Amino acid sequence: MRAIRVMCSGRVDPQFVLKALKEGADGVLIAGCHPGECHYVEGNIKALRRFILLKRMLAQLGVEEERVQLVWASASEGKILAEAVDKMTEQVRALGPLRWQETVLSGNGQWVEATPVLEEV
Ligand code: FES
Repeated sequence: MRAIRVMCSGRVDPQFVLKALKEGADGVLIAGCHPGECHYVEGNIKALRRFILLKRMLAQLGVEEERVQLVWASASEGKILAEAVDKMTEQVRALGPLRWQETVLSGNGQWVEATPVLEEV
């Protein structure tokens, strides 16, 4: 596990999660303060909205839902965070490596994009 500290869960851009997965992480756990307890008022609500959208997108790409999780654990709740990390580690270990290159990318490190259909004029 590699911990990356940000000032608020609302600072976690979905692109950070995608980059981590692309660069070899088998899963990403986002942790934030409980709803109503964010120092920045509603950063965790923003994180929750982004998390829901990110999960939908990853499902479309064939990434198992256990690979990206969100947990509410305040700074004084280390035990809750540790339990979430242990649980997620077991789940991801059971899934095996993500193999982003084969599952999500075209094989050359580029995003798979729809090929535009061009008509000759
Ligand atoms: S300070 Fe915003 S989620 Fe903790």
